[in-house]
Amino acid sequence: MIDKMTKSPKPSGTMSLYAEVARLKAGGADIISFAVGELDINSPESAKRAGIKAIDDNFTRYTVSDGIAELRQAIAQSLSAETGQNFAMEQVIISNGSKQASFNLLAAVLNRGDEVIIPSPYFPSHLRQVELLGATPRLLETSLAGGFQIKAELLKNLITDKTKVLLINSPHNPTGAVYTKETLTGIAEVVKENNILLLLDEIYSGLVFPPAEEYSMLKLFPELKNNFLIAGGFSKAFAMTGWRVGFAAGPLEIIEAAGIIQSNTTTNVCSISQKAALAAMQQDPDFVKKLLPDLISKRDTAVELLNSINGLDCLVAGGAFYLFPSVKKFIGKTYDGHKVETSQDIASYLLRKHGLAVVPGESFGAPGFIRLNFSICQTDLQKGLKRLKDGLEQLQ
Ligand SMILES: Cc1ncc(COP(=O)(O)O)c(C=O)c1O
Repeated sequence: MIDKMTKSPKPSGTMSLYAEVARLKAGGADIISFAVGELDINSPESAKRAGIKAIDDNFTRYTVSDGIAELRQAIAQSLSAETGQNFAMEQVIISNGSKQASFNLLAAVLNRGDEVIIPSPYFPSHLRQVELLGATPRLLETSLAGGFQIKAELLKNLITDKTKVLLINSPHNPTGAVYTKETLTGIAEVVKENNILLLLDEIYSGLVFPPAEEYSMLKLFPELKNNFLIAGGFSKAFAMTGWRVGFAAGPLEIIEAAGIIQSNTTTNVCSISQKAALAAMQQDPDFVKKLLPDLISKRDTAVELLNSINGLDCLVAGGAFYLFPSVKKFIGKTYDGHKVETSQDIASYLLRKHGLAVVPGESFGAPGFIRLNFSICQTDLQKGLKRLKDGLEQLQ
């Protein structure tokens, strides 16, 4: 066991960075953080009230491991409406965030040596989950020039007889890319031809900025319904990261297996959080829609400033709340006699010398980039962007 843990690479890089920022802030440093992976707003009032009521009602014991029926039912209904497929409650389990949902799904289907294709840049936990399960991640390169879309030709080249799963995430962390209909069609053809599973991490669902459009792959390609696994949750679109409520959905047999894994590892999601998530869904179904104008305006503010920095290249995010500019042109420059050799060095320089936390691309398998979360209050956004501009422009 110790062997497995020491071999498995690193804890979550973003989590280590948050710890470093928290430490600096606790020591009194003036830090603006573009690093966190959550919206800078509070959870819906409906969720908070329902959580308090759950405690007052003593709804504080174990629930069924798969989650309370009302919440599973509500998610099944919402998935049915979104996909045009009929999802039964039994095809949904409630998990501790979408992270546990994807882990349970992968654990249910992967055998040692199986291969999982993951587009790169990637969400680090996707890669680590695959590795922890003794399977092999195969990275599918995407590029800034190509809008970080998946190219079907490159995808085809990665398929082997060991390929079990293609794991995609749209809107995408860290790039902010939203897959176009053309990209999804290319993916669907490869999935169909090779009869592999498609795990959709939909945690940023709803956070899409027109003219980008969010398509349900299941609606577009209903013939693939037995190939689909979905991981989603309340963390991002309902601003409920701390409550830890997500869900896994898919074919009954796989969901039952994921449920057995969950019941033997963590049992149910916090009973109070489940009631809160149900209330958020039922009473604030448009919560995410109302956030979009503010997010779009913040994205535009950030993109405008980034474009004014000579040497910075950036995709205009179609969704989520991240920008992922290339800082390659600054690598090799110096400050105070020190050379910045990597985007990690640039992130350390920005943190130490300019009080700005960004996540280096290395965390996402993409050296030469930095990730910025633009969902912070306007004052800090403006201040942080100025620090970024000053910091990069002062490199010589
Ligand atoms: C792509 C992706 N999936 C999953 C998660 C984790 O979501 P949750 O908090 O629901 O576990 C994140 C969080 O940053 C993410 O970016």
